[in-house]
Amino acid sequence: MNPNDLSLGQIEDLVRAHGTPLYIVSRQQIVANFERLNNGLPAAKIFYATKANPHSGILEILKAAGAGFDVASKGEIQAAINAGANPQRDLIFADTVKDPKHIAYAHGIGLDDFTFDNLSEITQIARHAPGTKVHLRLAVSNHGSVAHLSDKFGALPAEAVPLLRAARDAGLVPSGISFHVGSQCLDNQRWVEALETTRLVFDAAKAAGMELETVDIGGGFPVRYGNETIDIDATCKVITSHFHRLFDQSTQLVAEPGRAIVGDAMILVTKVISESVRQSQNWLYFDDGTYGSFLEVLLYQAQYPLRTNTTGPDTPYVLAGPTCDSIDVFSRDGQGHITPVTLPEMHLDDLLIASSMGAYTYSEATRFNGFEPPTFVYVD
Ligand SMILES: Cc1ncc(COP(=O)(O)O)c(C=O)c1O
Repeated sequence: MNPNDLSLGQIEDLVRAHGTPLYIVSRQQIVANFERLNNGLPAAKIFYATKANPHSGILEILKAAGAGFDVASKGEIQAAINAGANPQRDLIFADTVKDPKHIAYAHGIGLDDFTFDNLSEITQIARHAPGTKVHLRLAVSNHGSVAHLSDKFGALPAEAVPLLRAARDAGLVPSGISFHVGSQCLDNQRWVEALETTRLVFDAAKAAGMELETVDIGGGFPVRYGNETIDIDATCKVITSHFHRLFDQSTQLVAEPGRAIVGDAMILVTKVISESVRQSQNWLYFDDGTYGSFLEVLLYQAQYPLRTNTTGPDTPYVLAGPTCDSIDVFSRDGQGHITPVTLPEMHLDDLLIASSMGAYTYSEATRFNGFEPPTFVYVD
């Protein structure tokens, strides 16, 4: 069941039982999203990007469905292990800026696949996880995606062979290439170009005496927030056909989707806890906000579909969270400026329901001012 299919009455019943702010999650939708990618990329092993939403219930569902986990820290490793993951078989340490204490911990429990993109990371991995397998992350075009990860991560293709050689000389085992086309990627061409660049690096590595085995295409699969045209099956077909065009049967394909697995499987219900008129604008204050589930509104101008449990006349509102900071406003335009949104008239105790809230909400929520993240309830 997609949580968007719940009636207002069902949502109100859940709020009566569990309070607000409340995350309502569909297990079936998570499994369906996983299966779509797993079936669409038959050559790939799927490692769910734990950072998208590490709630224990979600990790347990995905472990049972057959996923591995992309992890970025000791905390994420422990969350995945608590869900039943085997460190050696099910985990990739895919952050390229790893805390050395976390490298040592991971190595100590048998995790043996680490990503790197610079010489100092080779030094850290060789010190704390000697002899392990490593992937080189390449910077590829993130044009058109929402989060431009290649601004911070990834080596240039020209740097690839020297880095792979340095890893080998440090006693590590260079085994593959990874990339990320940027989160919420709406252009399939990004994966095609990145696979072609990866092929060139495979060839250059082979010429330098290093046979690579794995292509890790990262995440980036999108979720519908508004009227985007999204066809995950078509994206998977494009990736699969170009992967087979460029690589032979012996090459292992890996994917690390996060957003597309959990994004549309969770809604948030938050309650009006205060209201005011400021400079002739109506303000509503909720029990969740920017420092909780809505941080991506500020960071990436995310626009979540919003509805209410009210039926009054359309009214413009500025929507704000409960903390003591004036930046805690989550009705913003595409440039990040505060702007009112039009909703059916709302007052104290009314409910705002935000959809597609599964990814990068709970995982990014802070404890600022002592506010705890919303409660989770699983509906199927
Ligand atoms: C290394 C890595 N893999 C996978 C992901 C998941 O990306 P997405 O949620 O866009 O699928 C991320 C996101 O930041 C990432 O950094």
